[in-house]
Amino acid sequence: MSFDVAGDAYDRFMGRYSGPLASTFVDFAGPEASADVLDVGCGPGALTAELVARFGAGSVRAVDPSPSFVRVMHERFPEVAVEEAGAASLPFTTGQFDAVLSQLVVHFMADPVAGIAEMSRVTRPGGVVSACVWDHAEGGGPLETFWQAARTLDPETTTEDRLPGTRQGDLTEIFTQAGLEQVDERPLTVRVSHPSFEEWWQPYTLGVGPAGAHVAALDDGATEALRAECLQRLGDGPFVVDARVWAARGRS
Ligand SMILES: C[S@@+](CC[C@H](N)C(=O)[O-])C[C@H]1O[C@@H](n2cnc3c(N)ncnc32)[C@H](O)[C@@H]1O
Repeated sequence: MSFDVAGDAYDRFMGRYSGPLASTFVDFAGPEASADVLDVGCGPGALTAELVARFGAGSVRAVDPSPSFVRVMHERFPEVAVEEAGAASLPFTTGQFDAVLSQLVVHFMADPVAGIAEMSRVTRPGGVVSACVWDHAEGGGPLETFWQAARTLDPETTTEDRLPGTRQGDLTEIFTQAGLEQVDERPLTVRVSHPSFEEWWQPYTLGVGPAGAHVAALDDGATEALRAECLQRLGDGPFVVDARVWAARGRS
């Protein structure tokens, strides 16, 4: 997946939504004030920043499989221990954390049940595992206009709507199969203002994630057609994007 990108490119494309989401997600996950917490799939640190603000850098650890994001994390959070690792194999001892969180990652895991089970392994008994994924399946994600436009131009376009965790109930099933208890799932929303169409569109050309990879694979004419199709739907701006995740938590 296209996450070997600069931290700034990620911030402009997805961080503009995942930054505001982080606070709502941590409220939902609900770790206690003195918790030791782990951020799985930290990217360049949208959720980590929120965890550091609440719990202090010494109580937060983070992992991501992307070397470029791990480098950015070392620069941005020199006091947080950050390691290059994926959810399937976490370099921590059993029961090490009070809470393990993963924001916008489950849909990129090769085996989500194994990933959540591994997150549960490093959580102490009774501690909280939580994850959230954009509602791509039912049109609630922040990239909905983009994917709708892409599909209008090419009905064969592969979007993100079939990925695990993107529909109501998916995360509950994954968490339950992973052995978590007291599983609770609900929607969480964010509202992001875009001052202009150009501010909204330009980050799609930076190659970040599946949408960035889609644009990167188009020739100049097809890119312009997609831009025009999006512009027709959104107008010049300003406009607001409302986005929804499905979020689940369970006890280890
Ligand atoms: C959409 S970004 C989310 C980043 C950050 N959590 C946020 O909310 O902005 C997805 C992240 O998941 C990471 N990732 C992909 N597969 C993963 C896996 N199997 N385990 C952990 N992280 C993974 C990517 O490298 C990327 O940083």
